[in-house]
Amino acid sequence: MTAVRIALIGAGVMGRQHAQYIQQLPETTLVAIADPFTQALATDYGVPAFTDHRQMLEHIRPDAVIIANPNHLHVSTATDCLQAGIPTLLEKPVATSLAEAFELVAVEQRTGVPLLIGHHRRHNPIVTRAKSIIDSGALGRLTTVTALWQVRKDDAYFDVAWRREPGAGVLLINLIHDLDLLRHLCGEVGQVQAITSHGARQLAVEDSAALLLQFANGALGTLTGSDATVAPWGWDQNSGENPSVFAQQADQSCYLLAGTEGSLSIPQLKLWRYGEQQGWHHPLLCQQHAPADSLAMHNQLRHLVQLARGECAPLVSAADAAKTLALVEAAQRAARDGFAAQPAAE
Ligand SMILES: NC(=O)c1ccc[n+]([C@@H]2O[C@H](COP(=O)([O-])OP(=O)(O)OC[C@H]3O[C@@H](n4cnc5c(N)ncnc54)[C@H](O)[C@@H]3O)[C@@H](O)[C@H]2O)c1
Repeated sequence: MTAVRIALIGAGVMGRQHAQYIQQLPETTLVAIADPFTQALATDYGVPAFTDHRQMLEHIRPDAVIIANPNHLHVSTATDCLQAGIPTLLEKPVATSLAEAFELVAVEQRTGVPLLIGHHRRHNPIVTRAKSIIDSGALGRLTTVTALWQVRKDDAYFDVAWRREPGAGVLLINLIHDLDLLRHLCGEVGQVQAITSHGARQLAVEDSAALLLQFANGALGTLTGSDATVAPWGWDQNSGENPSVFAQQADQSCYLLAGTEGSLSIPQLKLWRYGEQQGWHHPLLCQQHAPADSLAMHNQLRHLVQLARGECAPLVSAADAAKTLALVEAAQRAARDGFAAQPAAE
């Protein structure tokens, strides 16, 4: 089968990673890059460079496109791609507001062109395995969920203006991934309470957040996150997913899911349950589960290939990603107002 011809929109940190992954898979080939401010990546890969993605879509007619430009451009850029009939992978967040996300859902429905949102962790085999353990009932009724994402980003990361301004912030840039995974693994969140702080970096956007979550199934959870904290606890340090950016601490856990029958550490996939003798006086037995051996970003890209070939529906649709965004917005409202907030429905 011939390789799927992919064009890239946005040639920054994430765009460079996507270009690398496209090069690594035999079923994909990079055909062009659009970025109004830099041609360096296109030069490195020897592909045509465009300053306007609409011209690129017209001239190149790629089989699929990956959008990795700043958040506030996501909806307008994805709309252009869908209207041009090109299956699209749009980096998260799907939009910077829920209202905009719904606009994009409407465009997707009107055009019928597949749109995948880049919540790439869902393509990670660790997540697939964790989900199957939870769905098997091994944890019993989920009672408590503890989640951490704590990293100290280099100060230079914030030299880029959009990362300091509303529309960015640790909730929308990073914790959105954790909230998406918690929704996927533990179910929908009914309400959230939150406190955020910008005290460590003194930027317009928050650098730290503490969230209390009540899941619709009754489980209670916490998510504590910060981009200004030196700590080994976070999916990016613990999962092995992105070792080129995050130094790895594979022995540490970022999610601890606990239920009436057992508990699970992630990404280690250690399942803790009683043996034949039950009760708190008896030691727990630990069963080690192993995920399949593949990279989330490769799996996401293979999924885009399948979408471009019309073989499946998006694993993370815009409507699904909008629910994650609704949860982020609820956390932002809760932090602003000092009251518990519920994610908005459609
Ligand atoms: N999935 C993940 O884990 C992950 C990780 C990091 C970033 N992201 C997302 O990827 C996107 C890009 O983030 P980044 O850190 O690479 O940002 P970045 O600032 O490094 O790169 C953005 C690029 O977009 C370009 N750009 C600006 N306007 C454009 C336009 N009109 N058309 C095309 N390109 C344009 C900029 O010149 C820049 O090169 C963001 O939406 C971010 O949330 C996702």
